[in-house]
Amino acid sequence: MADQDVRELTSDDPPVKARGLEGVVALESSLSFIDGQKGELIYRGYDIHDLAEGASFEEVVYLLANGSLPTEDELAGLRQELRSERTLPDPVLDLLRNAPDDAHPMAVLRTAVSALGLYDDEADVMEEAANRRKAVRILAQIPTIIASFDRIRKGLDPVAPLDEGTMAHNFLYMLNGEEPGEAAERIFDVCLVLHADHGLNASTFTSRVIGSTLSDMYSAIPGAIGALKGPLHGGANREVMRMLLEIDEQGADPAEYVKERLAQGERVMGFGHRVYKTMDPRAAILRDLVKELSEEAGEMKWYEYSMAILDTMRDEKGIDPNVDFFSASTYYQLGLDPDLFTPIFALSRTAGWTSHLLEQWADNRLIRPRAQYVGDRNRSFVPLQER
Ligand code: CMC
Repeated sequence: MADQDVRELTSDDPPVKARGLEGVVALESSLSFIDGQKGELIYRGYDIHDLAEGASFEEVVYLLANGSLPTEDELAGLRQELRSERTLPDPVLDLLRNAPDDAHPMAVLRTAVSALGLYDDEADVMEEAANRRKAVRILAQIPTIIASFDRIRKGLDPVAPLDEGTMAHNFLYMLNGEEPGEAAERIFDVCLVLHADHGLNASTFTSRVIGSTLSDMYSAIPGAIGALKGPLHGGANREVMRMLLEIDEQGADPAEYVKERLAQGERVMGFGHRVYKTMDPRAAILRDLVKELSEEAGEMKWYEYSMAILDTMRDEKGIDPNVDFFSASTYYQLGLDPDLFTPIFALSRTAGWTSHLLEQWADNRLIRPRAQYVGDRNRSFVPLQER
């Protein structure tokens, strides 16, 4: 849909019904734009290919929050601010220690981010400057939560964050207890760039709905994490890896495996998109990255399974992959546990969520659609004793 095709409804228009809000323009945003027909994605006017090629995740964080790419000094300032906020309050670390080892890392992340708000004196301060500080604070602490919980559940001590290095470097360091190689850090950083924002997707919409009530960031971000957790949204990347591992364990032919799933009326995770009607540009970038990683590691099977599934989905359904399809094998080749894939998506998307909240609050209007009532009417009330 071209921008000029958007017609503003007035109070004189009859109510419009759009199941799943498909095609509905609920608000204006200058953060990111998807051209679903051409398969293009831009953040604040910059093509995703250019950003993936040339910008670090922190530059994208700055871009989304401020509308322009940072100068060297501005980037150094943001990096310093992020580093200074990485350490978790002790009670939040205790919460991670007390969480069940088998808890879903997204549930732990959702709970821990909510808990961070209890220890932030500015949690309910709604001035823009305070909200900007909280955006940085939450973004800085999410990697520490994910990495610390992962180590605790494996019986290891959490690794204290570094007070130097990029977010990508520090996260991989905290997770593994050793400094990452240059290639791993670069590829992980590109993954963070690719996932940082994506229009009014379900989790971003959730964060803006919560923000539109003038509730705070520590309410909106856990809500967004909850929305992202679902397998139709960010949870798909974990499901993709589950499928690839199952194919491997069963020694199955990937094409036959997928055909069988489709024959049973099942969805194949990592395919299809509400907006893209062609290849998701992020999937194309990730496909090249995972190929590179696989060649370097001398382990091509995940890439080969993925390409066979891609061809089969195109032949059988004419459906292209989305970002979650190739991010799964990319993260796996980087040695990351499959149930951390969605939390890592959340880490990156926090940049988008918090920037959307700042945009929402700069010109707030309560988001409140209506439902078409299809229930009973005019029923006679029967008192409790008589039912
Ligand atoms: N596997 C098999 N068939 C599919 C798939 C799929 N992954 N996706 C869509 N279809 C079919 C669907 O069955 C329907 O066919 P028919 O018209 O014959 O009933 C047709 O394509 C249209 O699907 P839809 O459900 O109306 O499309 P939607 O816009 O509501 O769904 C979607 C978008 C992402 C929920 C869906 O494509 C899907 O369930 N994909 C799998 C989950 C997934 O990969 N999610 C990640 C989304 S992108 C990144 C992110 O947000 O994390």
